[in-house]
Amino acid sequence: MRIRVLTGAGISAESGIPTFRGKDGLWKGFRAEDLATPQAFSKNPIKVWEWYCWRRQIIGQAEPNEAHKLLADWERSHDLWIITQNVDGLHQRAGSKNVIELHGNIWRLRCTACGKVWEDEKACSKIPPRCECGAIARPDVVWFGEALPSEAIRKSYELAGDAEIFIVVGTSGVVQPAANLPFVAKSFGARIYVVNPQPTIHTEIADLFLQTSASEGLRRIDELLQSEGPS
Ligand code: OAD
Repeated sequence: MRIRVLTGAGISAESGIPTFRGKDGLWKGFRAEDLATPQAFSKNPIKVWEWYCWRRQIIGQAEPNEAHKLLADWERSHDLWIITQNVDGLHQRAGSKNVIELHGNIWRLRCTACGKVWEDEKACSKIPPRCECGAIARPDVVWFGEALPSEAIRKSYELAGDAEIFIVVGTSGVVQPAANLPFVAKSFGARIYVVNPQPTIHTEIADLFLQTSASEGLRRIDELLQSEGPS
């Protein structure tokens, strides 16, 4: 079965990582404009790094949950791709290989001068971290107002277009272009399964809406896939 899964912050909520929106969401306590834009970084790179270092600490202590693990399991028996808006790397830690990161990865850094990209778990020992060329490095994530990595978005549209089942887990569906992918999949004939404790824009096109947590919802889809037999 060709299964594509769009994931958002909600899939990592059960690992203890806060989501962005909702009552305890990050954007309740922080202003995105002050922390997640290129302008904010130019104005105050230390403040932006402090926020990313705090998030790195939370993510570093988190473990993949059952939802991440189920998706990793399905990759063994299905043609499965995960398209994630998350920067936490938990899909890969759970064992998934086919992962497209639309918004980058919090463990990677990018030089603001030479563009070198590298991974450094200890980047927060001295902030702002610097590249070997001497310039300041930034987190290799996508900020508001920035374009998504072009190959990641091209591949995501291609995968949405050939999906048999397109599962949307734990995203509010308010950030484009990721939010558009389920609509593309639907228009090319995929069955749309949505897992979220709250209705979203995607529930309108869902063939199946599981109004529950990511782990419970994916467990139910797992049973469905097993009852359909091997692909
Ligand atoms: P949001 O915080 O906008 O939405 C999280 C979604 O997860 C909501 O719809 C919740 O109802 C749902 N949710 C909460 N707990 C859940 C659980 N246990 N199981 C399943 N779902 C749950 O996060 P995203 O949609 O990922 O972008 O946000 C998209 C982008 O906006 C992020 O990648 C980030 C943010 O600003 C950038 O930083 C560029």
